[in-house]
Amino acid sequence: MKGIILAGGSGTRLRPLTLAVSKQLLPVGDKPMIYYPLSVLMLAGITEILLISTPADLVQFRRLLGDGAHLGLRLSYAEQPHPGGIAEAFLIGADHIGDDEVALVLGDNIFHGLRFSDLLLETAREVDGCVLFGYPVHDPERYGVAETDGDGRLVSIAEKPAKPRSNRAVTGLYFYDNDVVNIAKNIGPSPRGELEISGVNQVYLERGRARLVDLGRGFAWLDTGTPESLLQASLYVGTLEARQGVRIACIEEVALRMGLIDAAACHRLGEAMAGSSYGRYVMDIAGELA
Ligand code: TTP
Repeated sequence: MKGIILAGGSGTRLRPLTLAVSKQLLPVGDKPMIYYPLSVLMLAGITEILLISTPADLVQFRRLLGDGAHLGLRLSYAEQPHPGGIAEAFLIGADHIGDDEVALVLGDNIFHGLRFSDLLLETAREVDGCVLFGYPVHDPERYGVAETDGDGRLVSIAEKPAKPRSNRAVTGLYFYDNDVVNIAKNIGPSPRGELEISGVNQVYLERGRARLVDLGRGFAWLDTGTPESLLQASLYVGTLEARQGVRIACIEEVALRMGLIDAAACHRLGEAMAGSSYGRYVMDIAGELA
């Protein structure tokens, strides 16, 4: 399975923070936002990842993550010249996807929960059509809302409905079989001129091949779209990390735990950042798991 991180957009709700810096490079706790969705793909066992962003921002993502070899990954980069919709990722990423299945994650989505990796690995093993991840929210009318039957099959999906049929928001993590490329090519733009992901999901739903995995209230799915929610996300991450002494979305640790790099390589990555507590944590983890 291939991975795509979509990290473009204009971040209008975060201006002036996003006037000169991509939203997905802003800090959440002690690391750049992009580390969180990158960790999710790594925890799903995905190593070939395409990062899509704006022409202006790509250079900084490359500076941060390079070709990914230091993390045991193969990272590549592609431009989305304008925010033409989330489903445009499958057109931009068609060559990257090739004949494979694909997991798409939005670059500003933060997930955290017990045994998330097990859930992701299990889900990635059997993608028949599309798999969406649902999360209970108190204000579903702000999101894509999913309704399922008793078996987790999707029976309806609605974008920002006035009268939501459930409280389950569709999160920014999606698994698809290879048909997604053709489906995205054929849906056509919405009235706003965007290739909307809900259009793709609707096609899978009509084919009876769309499933929703419930993340449930034990999980955290955090918003980072506004200054207030960005601050809350940072506080959440900082609070848990200080209390438990472990880090969320430490990509060096994830690479080590997933067997993508060895302890010596992990230690070197930490050493290069030894001036920060993040760097020292990476060195400690390398020592513990050696
Ligand atoms: P949004 O939150 O819809 O948009 P945005 O990030 O530009 O923020 P704002 O609403 O403040 O202007 O996008 C969700 C995520 O998807 C975000 O990570 C940006 C990404 N995205 C793209 O990369 N390209 C696109 O065409 C769209 C629609 C979103």
